[in-house]
Amino acid sequence: MCGIVGILGQHEVAPTLVEALRRLEYRGYDSAGIATLKDGRLDRRRAVGKLVNLSDLLVHEPLAGKAGIGHTRWATHGAPNLANTHPHRAGPVAVVHNGIIENYRDLRTDLATKGIGHETDTDTETVALLTRHFMDQGLPPVEAAKRTIERLEGAYALLFLFDGEPDLLVAARKGSPLAVGHGTGEMFVGSDAIALAPMTDRVTYLDEGDIAVVTREGVTITDEKGNTVDRPVKRIRIGNTRVDKAGHKHFMAKEITEQPAVIGDALGHYLSADGRDVTLPGDGLDFSGFDRLTMVACGTAYYACLTAKYWFEQLAGMPVEVDIASEFRYREPPVTPRTCAVFVSQSGETADTLAALRYCEGKADTILSVVNVDESSIARESDLALPIHAGAEIGVASTKAFTCQLTVLLLLALKAAKDRGAMSADDMADTLSSLRGLPATINHALELDDDFAKAARRLSEADNALFLGRGLMYPLALEGALKLKEISYIHAEAYASGELKHGPIALIDKRMPVVVMAPRDALFDKTVSNMQEVMARGGKVMLITDHAGAAETDEGVWRLIEMPEVDPVLAPILYAIPAQLLAYHTAVAKGTDVDQPRNLAKSVTVE
Ligand code: AGP
Repeated sequence: MCGIVGILGQHEVAPTLVEALRRLEYRGYDSAGIATLKDGRLDRRRAVGKLVNLSDLLVHEPLAGKAGIGHTRWATHGAPNLANTHPHRAGPVAVVHNGIIENYRDLRTDLATKGIGHETDTDTETVALLTRHFMDQGLPPVEAAKRTIERLEGAYALLFLFDGEPDLLVAARKGSPLAVGHGTGEMFVGSDAIALAPMTDRVTYLDEGDIAVVTREGVTITDEKGNTVDRPVKRIRIGNTRVDKAGHKHFMAKEITEQPAVIGDALGHYLSADGRDVTLPGDGLDFSGFDRLTMVACGTAYYACLTAKYWFEQLAGMPVEVDIASEFRYREPPVTPRTCAVFVSQSGETADTLAALRYCEGKADTILSVVNVDESSIARESDLALPIHAGAEIGVASTKAFTCQLTVLLLLALKAAKDRGAMSADDMADTLSSLRGLPATINHALELDDDFAKAARRLSEADNALFLGRGLMYPLALEGALKLKEISYIHAEAYASGELKHGPIALIDKRMPVVVMAPRDALFDKTVSNMQEVMARGGKVMLITDHAGAAETDEGVWRLIEMPEVDPVLAPILYAIPAQLLAYHTAVAKGTDVDQPRNLAKSVTVE
């Protein structure tokens, strides 16, 4: 969602602000802007649409100055038009914001009674108006910002720049992440380390409720009680924050092909030296102490949890509930004391997942998270955070994070099986040995790229598509449908194969492609029967199976793609590749924006 950057520099900042915004593009946005201070005077440039529009504007109307703030806006309050684009300015103050000011209507009403009107549809403008109001009353900039922040309800990361204050930025974090970067005689603020990476590798992450007063000399941070606090300066790993496409046409393509390597990395971090056991960081976890797992996530991460449910139940005999975070957080579900609550999130900042985690604090025995961003809010608020080691994922469509999430969750299920005496050490070692071979098998699947591209060309002609799967392939069917709709805009739904005849079969006709994911496992024959039901009604089946499955498949299948063989327990990880490649090539064939699909944000920091 919205991206924030701020610089107190030694040189002209406009080009660096735009470059930092480019690195934040992956979060999703629909307009962008910057404000700088030249000779102590605020000025701003804003443009609707892609960042190139802002860069073009700056060519014709440059902005000078060595202090500035920038923003990519993902519209929440008000259309993505120029008036609503950040930075918002009221007299001597300019503000950029990520999040939602929930009480902005009350604030507006209050301002109106003082004769202060608003000009935009945004919640953010009220922050600028209120700050100007306090400055008009004689408060210095920092105090005015602090007094404003006291009045705000909701979630925000805020950054303020003031007229006549070329050595001052005020940053505040509550609910949306913000980091302060340390340079030499320069200081930076950014939504994440990716934005700051080219400028500095020394970063201080703000905590909830922190307010940072930043000058070129350094930063003073106060916590939510107003006490001055020392937050650590951490070295970020620049290698993990590279955002180039490495010769690929899209980040998504690059990230798909990275999967063998990053899954290998994840395994390297969690397998014991002899490869026969799973080791967790810190004091680890003993699953024999838990009665159940409650798993909570959103989107693709939710489908990773659904897959893990099958693994934990089948391998470890452990009851598992899986919930969508936005439902879980308001349902008031009972959480029993011997519950391990598991939160899965690539970004570690998803607002609903974070809120669900906080709901479980003090109720569950253990808060465990599986995240890609080590310093994220979800990681920091967990008893134990397990990184998935996927590296920066830039494409909005989650690919390598999904398969790394699955890999780590499978390792946890195997550990649970061993802890609970449901699996012998030898059986576990056998599965781990298959898992070590998985990166090579995924490489073979990636060699089928052309086959998926051809199939996708046909799929791109469809207006609708269905995905079917049974057992471990059911969550994957859901993921395949999500991938297809989010980047190709083709309406796609997924069903458990057995559910088809309970309603969705009414949708089948000769224009309906049905993608069936089915390795030749114990449930294959049942899925084949469902496939026959589709073909009998003229539906076009695209079957993705293995050699044994292909050998048992009758004629009449529209398209058949043969995958490498794999241990059935690992099939969801391997079969994520066709789900991703089909969606990717369909989107390319349709010419949609693969990496930044319309309306979507990478990091969903509002509910
Ligand atoms: C997947 O392709 C998505 N774009 C989306 O569903 C994502 O998985 C979801 O928003 C959760 O994000 P998180 O993993 O960062 O919490």
